[in-house]
Amino acid sequence: MKREIITTEDGSKTIHIPEWNEQYHSKHGAIQEANYVYIDKGLVGFLSSDNNKKSIQEVSVLEIGFGTGLNAFLTLHYAEKHQLAITYVGVEAFPISPEELQSLNYTELTAENESLWLKNMHEQPWETLEVVSQHFKLKKQKKSFLDIRDQSEFDIIYFDAFGPRVQPELWTEAVFKTMYDALKVNGVLVTYCAQGHARRAMISAGFKVEKLQGPPGKRHMLRAFKM
Ligand SMILES: C[S@@+](CC[C@H](N)C(=O)[O-])C[C@H]1O[C@@H](n2cnc3c(N)ncnc32)[C@H](O)[C@@H]1O
Repeated sequence: MKREIITTEDGSKTIHIPEWNEQYHSKHGAIQEANYVYIDKGLVGFLSSDNNKKSIQEVSVLEIGFGTGLNAFLTLHYAEKHQLAITYVGVEAFPISPEELQSLNYTELTAENESLWLKNMHEQPWETLEVVSQHFKLKKQKKSFLDIRDQSEFDIIYFDAFGPRVQPELWTEAVFKTMYDALKVNGVLVTYCAQGHARRAMISAGFKVEKLQGPPGKRHMLRAFKM
């Protein structure tokens, strides 16, 4: 499918799929959305929950799907700033090309030496856990989300699939059951999507779900807990 680079309202770029009229991130701001949904409500929300306030030294994150690497890059920055050890698994079946990566502007916002982190993440081999920076390890898995079989592996899931309008098969009870199984008890899943059908599928899979205020330009988002 054809992919083109567009600039979102906060000045950060993302990828647009004309055939689906769908983006990798919000048109209202790619970095703004990623920071709000995945870092603030996902990672920080998990770390500051009652169960975890004192005890967390190390966090494991599963990302559905790795895409441009923006969510991983922001998570790495958090890990370094807060000296928190993070192991990150990014699942992706259709990786972006080196040319697409070059056209994105995520590293313009960081120090020169840090921009290498994003490049290194994209260039590292698939299927092996690599040390990207002092506190951040990454394993990229090239496979379909439908082939995930992890059991109680992750603290946090960033569920960043394309929306139910274009990929309804990824927003089902069966897929959320796979996500539920992949999480540890007290784990949390966050997504930008707040659609009722997706929320009900999460509940049927066993999650306790809350609807939160969304990032700028979106009314709501969802956060789901494995109790
Ligand atoms: C909304 S984008 C993810 C954006 C990404 N989190 C980022 O920060 O750039 C959805 C991603 O899921 C991938 N994808 C779509 N269907 C998939 C599937 N069935 N299995 C694995 N990856 C899939 C796409 O190639 C795309 O990279």
